[in-house]
Amino acid sequence: MSSKQVALRLNTHYVHDNRLGEHRLTEQDLADLYPRVTKIIEEIANERSQGDHRFRELPYAKEQIAEIKQAVADHRETTENLIVLGIGGSALGNIALQTGLNPSTYNLLPRQLRNGPRLFVLDNVDPVHFEAVMDVIGDDWGRTLVNVISKSGETAETSAQFLIVRDRLREALGEAEGEDRLIVTTDTAQGTMRQIVNDQEYHSLTVPDGVGGRFSVLSAVGLFSAAMCGIDIDALLEGAAAMDRAVSDPNPQSNPAAQIAMIHYLYAEAGKPMHVMMPYSQQLRDLADWYRQLWAESLGKIRPRDHKNVGPTPIKALGATDQHSQVQLYREGPNDKVFTFLEVDEFECDSVIPMAFEGYEAMQYLGRSEDGTLGNLLNIEKKATQLAMLASERPSLTLHFPQINARTVGEFIYLYESIIPIMGKLYGINPYDQPAVELGKILTFHFMGRKGYENPPMTL
Ligand code: PA5
Repeated sequence: MSSKQVALRLNTHYVHDNRLGEHRLTEQDLADLYPRVTKIIEEIANERSQGDHRFRELPYAKEQIAEIKQAVADHRETTENLIVLGIGGSALGNIALQTGLNPSTYNLLPRQLRNGPRLFVLDNVDPVHFEAVMDVIGDDWGRTLVNVISKSGETAETSAQFLIVRDRLREALGEAEGEDRLIVTTDTAQGTMRQIVNDQEYHSLTVPDGVGGRFSVLSAVGLFSAAMCGIDIDALLEGAAAMDRAVSDPNPQSNPAAQIAMIHYLYAEAGKPMHVMMPYSQQLRDLADWYRQLWAESLGKIRPRDHKNVGPTPIKALGATDQHSQVQLYREGPNDKVFTFLEVDEFECDSVIPMAFEGYEAMQYLGRSEDGTLGNLLNIEKKATQLAMLASERPSLTLHFPQINARTVGEFIYLYESIIPIMGKLYGINPYDQPAVELGKILTFHFMGRKGYENPPMTL
């Protein structure tokens, strides 16, 4: 990815390699799409200048960034536990930033070794999990801050958890002090949560207008918890802005979002609608989870012009762990998948493998070379898996992270978001709605006895 000075590098060699046989994409296959995609990039730029694709402006939202930093300054010192209540786009980004940019053992560290409060993201209504977190909080509500996140302000799972936690806060601290430990991130004007915030005068942050849940990680939705936990949100946004320049490139040949979109579109049309994202990095695992929701909700649609069901199926896997779980299927199961490996050039730290047990070659080789480290082993396993895929004519891409830091993570997020409108236009669908999610919500309202939902469109 040479263009416009981004740190991430895209390697598409293994979609073009001759050894892929009939599963290979030629340069010509891509070139045939260039005129169409050039027009799409231009259309997106025009629509953006008229106020569409609002997520693209998040790296420059100075007022909102100042608002987030102020809220962090107000709460950080007095907070030992930060609970986030949200789901889908109101949680997955928070989790991905935390596990991507803070140690995996963060919550277990003593305060002086942590960059902020312990973080608990509750994105499910499983009572056992919920109460397990409540048990960890114990009677420490005075040092606990609860960030309720809901763009619509109408989401059953988040509202239910909010009602319980608000009760516990009030019980522990009294009405006024308890509610002072709430900060609600919601729409600027719409929705029940906004009404409650206004009526109760809760602390609040805003989800910018026109930015949907799954595109909102670089707004207060994801940035508040990240900054509370010491993540450099300025660097995240700088990375996103750098990627904005790269994905605004009018030439599809050097525009990384266009390249990735074209490859997936062409493969999906040719019978490979599955896309496996496989980071070889524990830190990037939850970014793959975040990507899975972004792509699934945005691109899995009924196309209006011919009522065809379209969209790639995003799948997440983890290297090297899932080599021992999925690779059998990936190599010998249906050849209907394209793989994207995420590879880290330089890990934040590394562990040398000692050489021991002379005469036992199955142990000795691991520590023999100068590069006998866990990081090197992980990257070699990635290389080996990619070649093994090639041997089975399975196409793959690699996205290289020179290092994992806030800047490269910001680049990644902005890149995978920016691919969406291009693919939306290639498929002929609206990537910003999610109509198929509604029926389940309506039926839940009905079964829970919500007024106004007495007559659902279907029954048991
Ligand atoms: O991307 C989306 O729009 C959804 O996944 C939402 O984020 C999710 O449904 C939660 O919605 P809300 O933030 O309105 O509670």
